[in-house]
Amino acid sequence: MRDGVHIVEVGPRDGLQNEKTPISVADRIAFIEALIGAGLHTVEVGAFVSPKAIPQMVGSAEVLRGVSHHTNRELPVLVPNEKGYEASQAAGAKLIAVFAAASESFSRANINCSIAESIERFKPVLARARADGVRVRGYISTVLGCPHEGEIKPQAVVDVAKVLWDLGCYEISLGDTIGVGTPLKARQLLRAVAGHVPMANLAMHFHDTYGQALANLYAGMEEGCRVIDSAAGGLGGCPYAPGATGNVATEDVVYMLEGMGIATGVDMAKLVAATNVVSGLIGRPPVSRVAAALNAKARATK
Ligand code: HMG
Ligand code: MG
Repeated sequence: MRDGVHIVEVGPRDGLQNEKTPISVADRIAFIEALIGAGLHTVEVGAFVSPKAIPQMVGSAEVLRGVSHHTNRELPVLVPNEKGYEASQAAGAKLIAVFAAASESFSRANINCSIAESIERFKPVLARARADGVRVRGYISTVLGCPHEGEIKPQAVVDVAKVLWDLGCYEISLGDTIGVGTPLKARQLLRAVAGHVPMANLAMHFHDTYGQALANLYAGMEEGCRVIDSAAGGLGGCPYAPGATGNVATEDVVYMLEGMGIATGVDMAKLVAATNVVSGLIGRPPVSRVAAALNAKARATK
């Protein structure tokens, strides 16, 4: 495998969007600062979505403004429509992400429209972003399974990926929203999508419900994929994906990559410290195996 993997930290957005305990704007900013301080280059900081749908992301404008002095970092935010785009621009977003799905029922549950309608909503967003010099990432959810429809065929993902790519998304992030994928399926999916979108422009966004995420990432890396979405502490979930757990943990990804001789630029001790802070705020220990191991080691050596 060649060197060089880019980590997209999604903890402050995906990680917190499903938490019952509301986390204040100040605490979200402190969490992001800690992640940036640990060496993460790209940190998804919030979402300009309906406050009725996701109250946890209220205050994303203040969060973005609070961290935007980090001009040498990428600080993406989620945008579902033109209203969200306008709010993101008022807050100064330079990088946004639109989010579609590979299954109709998840699209309906998550953003209250069909896949085709969601694409129609994204078109003016992408056109305006292009005119404004704003980069756009495209997510596709349920790429390896849907909570309502079960198995999803790679072709369904390819169809959406092609459209997002043709509309001008610079990267397509493939979301195993409910974490049901296995390495073989992850590999087959990446091969299928890479037939239409360059592998260099694909990202893996794997939730870890069935404990397969790290293995799936490894399989995807063997296929040549070099962008990994992860969340500190293994935080995460989507309110519209019942039963799904968090994203693959950034600590676990960093540990695996460093162990493979792939430098991440992330300081593990600082990353675990950031995770511990947020875990104190939500009142649960991190599910990350690496964070748990390092915390246990630190306690034992005290
Ligand atoms: P809708 O109800 O169809 O929208 O929701 P609408 O246009 O009819 O508007 C309804 C109300 O929402 C109106 O307010 C609008 O102003 C307001 P009211 O008149 O009722 O007071 N509204 C907005 N407010 C703030 N920001 C906006 C916005 N748009 C409308 N941008 C909508 C459609 C898409 C807005 C809604 O369903 C929504 O916000 N959904 C968000 C869902 C979400 O954030 N899900 C989690 C992120 S996706 C994810 O986690 C998956 C991912 O991690 C990858 C993976 O793991 O698979 C990315
Ligand atoms: Mg997700």
